[in-house]
Amino acid sequence: MLSVTCTAPVNIAVIKYWGKRNEELILPLNDSISATLSTEHLCTTTTITASPNFTENKITLNGVEESFENKRLLRCLSEVRRRADEHDKCRKEILKWNIHVVTENNFPTAAGLASSASGYACLVYALACLYGIEKEELSAIARQGSGSACRSLYSGFVQWKKGCHDNGSDSIAIQIVPETHWPEMRILILVVNDAKKKTSSTHGMSTSVKTSELLKYRVSSCVDKNIEALTKALHDKDFELFGKITMQDSNQFHAVCLDTYPPCVYMNDISHSIVNVIHQYNKVHGEIKVAYTFDAGPNACLYLLEKDVPDVLRIINYAFPNDNVKSVEYIKGIPVDLPESGTD
Ligand code: ADP
Ligand code: DP6
Ligand code: CO
Repeated sequence: MLSVTCTAPVNIAVIKYWGKRNEELILPLNDSISATLSTEHLCTTTTITASPNFTENKITLNGVEESFENKRLLRCLSEVRRRADEHDKCRKEILKWNIHVVTENNFPTAAGLASSASGYACLVYALACLYGIEKEELSAIARQGSGSACRSLYSGFVQWKKGCHDNGSDSIAIQIVPETHWPEMRILILVVNDAKKKTSSTHGMSTSVKTSELLKYRVSSCVDKNIEALTKALHDKDFELFGKITMQDSNQFHAVCLDTYPPCVYMNDISHSIVNVIHQYNKVHGEIKVAYTFDAGPNACLYLLEKDVPDVLRIINYAFPNDNVKSVEYIKGIPVDLPESGTD
């Protein structure tokens, strides 16, 4: 019997991935950029055990057994096993053993806080540890679990390059800058609603690709410019430019969701009041101090610099005193690499 346990962090996109050109291989229509958080806060922990005595494969997510007949899960497993089979140093003797996967998210699952990203990054990393394959270049495998997962394998600010090959070999994540490049950067997560969303990201973006004209315009005329400008803002540590592009991209992404037919409504009234509060706050200060971004859910992620955290927390607690915003997570740092917590 062999068992490994790994932990992987979520990542929060500042230029969103929304739309696939190949649903099977999970190839995106556009590049995206995100920051990977620290595993101290929002993360997935996954234990995988392989044994010659297991009669079947099993997976338990947050204490509930799920079907193993999940295309994405099976694809990640077969891709890792294929690589293990090709390399001499890998643990080939266990390739035929069944596995039991036990995975837990320490934050709301399927609520727009990127659980599929930390979930599949953790699964693929743990499988790589189990079979003893190289940890480099795992992002193309994690991508086939959930697109956003490829970015969680790197720390700091990360770009998922859409690539141009039909087989997806160059649709991979790369680090733009490490977390040490801009150590003052902080992220606050405002949990507005922790319920499972009605429309999964996968289904929502597939409908957008089929029905949204605005998505076509976003992909053809907006994203590349914003990727270039945001990369420059990161290199120059220019928060004004970083914040503006981040908020504009989030707004455009949610406009695409509304332009989808039937529309995908992910933000709620509280999300919109958070947007208003942030714009008022920035206006009073005459500069962008805080930038909001919303994934496919109502919960807000705020990017800001460390010096402004106490004042922004004070404003948020003042503006949302009645527990409308259920909890505020203070993400201390943008993170470290994936730790491996042990092999028996
Ligand atoms: P989110 O915004 O949380 O990423 P998605 O709709 O993209 O929501 O994906 C949610 C799905 O991701 C879950 O229904 C589940 O299938 C998968 N998922 C979430 N966490 C894990 C995990 N720890 N291990 C494996 N799969 C996971
Ligand atoms: C709004 O990666 O969850 O969070 O590839 O179908 O699993 P699948 O979708 P997923 O989509 C994430 C969408 C997003 C934006 C982003 O993270 O870039
Ligand atoms: Co997701």
